[in-house]
Amino acid sequence: MKGLILSGGKGTRLRPITYTSAKQLVPVANKPILFFGIEALAASGITEVGIVVGDTKREIMDAVGDGGRFGVAVTYIEQDAPLGLAHAVLVSEGFLGRDPFVMYLGDNLITEKLAPLVARFKEERPNAQILLARVPNPEQFGVAELRDGKVVRLIEKPATPPSDLALVGVYMFDDSIFAAAKAITPSWRGELEITDAIQRLIDTGLTVRPHIIEGWWKDTGKLEDMLEANRIILDTLEAKVEGEIEDSELHGKVIVEAGAKIVRSVVRGPVIIGKGAVIENAYIGPFTAIGDHVVVRGSEVEHSIILEGSSVTSVPGRIESSLIGRNVSIYRSESKPKSYNLMIGDRSQVGLI
Ligand code: G1P
Repeated sequence: MKGLILSGGKGTRLRPITYTSAKQLVPVANKPILFFGIEALAASGITEVGIVVGDTKREIMDAVGDGGRFGVAVTYIEQDAPLGLAHAVLVSEGFLGRDPFVMYLGDNLITEKLAPLVARFKEERPNAQILLARVPNPEQFGVAELRDGKVVRLIEKPATPPSDLALVGVYMFDDSIFAAAKAITPSWRGELEITDAIQRLIDTGLTVRPHIIEGWWKDTGKLEDMLEANRIILDTLEAKVEGEIEDSELHGKVIVEAGAKIVRSVVRGPVIIGKGAVIENAYIGPFTAIGDHVVVRGSEVEHSIILEGSSVTSVPGRIESSLIGRNVSIYRSESKPKSYNLMIGDRSQVGLI
């Protein structure tokens, strides 16, 4: 069985972060979201992984390389334009050949283990396996209607959803998906929808098996989803201190990576502090991921993600529920008259007190 990870897309809901970085590379608990998908495929015994890339091809390739460190061999597949998930399957036909495959959307995170599902798929060989999760907002996803445990209908982002069962971005297919993807036409959003291709499988009498997932699933397109994913993943990590701690208090699950320094500070986990970061005279509160080489001095940060190379210095109010990009500096302005001094990229959001 092969793996296919879709890692194109523009990430418009995470701008400005995605102006300079692929949305799949935004880290959760200091690890790019995309890596969780690659690891899940590797853990289920898959060794050949295709990654479909678009405009952000360079960065994805720089981050993932040949896949060796994940124990898989990665092939990059270019999708010229974001014409839909079924289109991504069609451009990957050469790589996939006749092998069954797991398709994993690179911005999705699930906590359920894939290995048992992959094993069952290999053994029982339905034409497709879909994963479903109950959600409060099904109109924002593909939605499944089940009858007697069978899938009868799938609709992409319906105005009036027939159920609360959303299609999770992890699918398994055999080669019948190619004919189905070729038979459908673009949706209202101009995309060849995988949801329509799976409906086509159902309409032509093929077997589409549903599996309602246990545990947690997130499609990480928005800030709130990123923060929630960060919360959940941080909670699953084990405490580990490899950096230096001086006159500081660490409570709960705290990971301090090598070369990081915590001086005269209080850190309340779950928190991860990346390599070479400096936390001084500061408070780092629960559910915070501090990236590599970040400096937090004389400031308080909680329930936030700060990406590598940024600094927060002498900020009087606590920073909360924030996503701060790479190499950003936030500091108390000493200029007179007393004023805010800002240089902020397009589409940034700044909440002042
Ligand atoms: C896509 C699929 C949708 C699925 C979702 C899961 O939506 O089209 O059926 O529920 O991924 O993340 P999109 O992210 O393209 O809006």
